[in-house]
Amino acid sequence: MQRNLTITKLENNESAPMPLLLLADPSEKNILKYLNKSDVYVALENEVIIGVYLLKEIGPSKVELMNIAVAESHQGKGLGKALVQHAIEAAKNSGMQSIELGTGNSSIQQLALYQKCGFRMKEIVHDFFVINYDEPIFENGIHCRDMVRLGIDLSSWAK
Ligand code: COA
Repeated sequence: MQRNLTITKLENNESAPMPLLLLADPSEKNILKYLNKSDVYVALENEVIIGVYLLKEIGPSKVELMNIAVAESHQGKGLGKALVQHAIEAAKNSGMQSIELGTGNSSIQQLALYQKCGFRMKEIVHDFFVINYDEPIFENGIHCRDMVRLGIDLSSWAK
């Protein structure tokens, strides 16, 4: 893990790190639809933002973890896992009963990361990325078509 690292929620007047958010969602148009309805958390190392995630309320006591991203030069060192764990704690501490997220069928690394952090698969939204994105997305040589929804029931969650 990085030293001198803090994870903190941005105030409403602080601007979100769009280049990092674009690593997780290639459409700025889509990001702008949900950004102002979300809490923005950033990871700071020596006062530089190197990671981000969003938490958006999507129902009664239900929050969605969105747009988790780590700056490319800092990936593979445990920060992504620390951000997911932070998001789970933040949701639980704010009284949420569940945390959910959606990722692509082609996002192999992300599917591994979320399941290592305790997320369980819930449903598949077929053709989500075909319908909602102008350009086709490919990762790991796989066409990203379907959204895999994962979640944690926080009422029975223990680290
Ligand atoms: N198979 C199995 N596990 C894998 C894997 C693979 N192919 N690739 C990575 N992992 C695991 C790692 O082993 C690690 O688990 P471990 O600590 O038990 O070894 C875990 O994934 C997370 O690694 P970590 O170093 O914490 O991740 P990171 O700091 O690189 O951040 C992302 C992960 C996804 C946030 C980062 O790669 C990123 O910003 N990607 C671009 C944006 C993005 O895709 N966001 C998600 C949108 S759904």
